[in-house]
Amino acid sequence: MYEGDIESVLVDERRIRDKVAELAARISRDYEGRDVVLVGILKGGVILMADLSRALTVPHQVDFMAVSSYGASTETTGVVRLLKDLGLDIQGRHVILVEDIVDSGLTVEYLVETLRPRRPASIEVCVLLMKPDVLQVDLKVKYKGFDIPNVFVVGYGLDYAERYRNLPFVATLRPEVYGRSAAG
Ligand code: IMP
Ligand code: MG
Repeated sequence: MYEGDIESVLVDERRIRDKVAELAARISRDYEGRDVVLVGILKGGVILMADLSRALTVPHQVDFMAVSSYGASTETTGVVRLLKDLGLDIQGRHVILVEDIVDSGLTVEYLVETLRPRRPASIEVCVLLMKPDVLQVDLKVKYKGFDIPNVFVVGYGLDYAERYRNLPFVATLRPEVYGRSAAG
């Protein structure tokens, strides 16, 4: 499908599947008997959300939030705007934020700070990917899939110009892809 656009695969489908199963097992153990709400961050978090939710053995509800960050398409500016809020009341409940990637950490930190005043019993973070070299905030990520270098990646929820989210692996794109118009 996007074959000619892929430069190299950083995390293949098999490793992602094994890691999601491992994270789900940990979460299921840690949250036994608790009232869990998974909060997926649109849109990048939806793929992990769907796989993680089905792999959990603890009952839970799911909800979504959407944020947008201003700025160039492959760089984070740190300015975050809330586009869609939760429908569920999280007071007294155990919240797990589910996101594709923590880059600077500003997006997830903003979300944690937005939810904290609603007095959930706890808030933890579950992400597929982290770029530890560029983390700008003191953010605790309890459930992390993989550390990757500071390169722009797509797949498994991550997009470039709203494409490639459906790839079952995480990959870098060939440089010429970035020169194309959004319509191409
Ligand atoms: P942060 O606020 O810098 O942690 O960036 C978080 C958001 O930037 C993520 O939710 C992604 O939408 C986007 N992002 C960061 N790195 C990448 C990447 O390598 N590929 C695609 N999107 C990314
Ligand atoms: Mg995102």
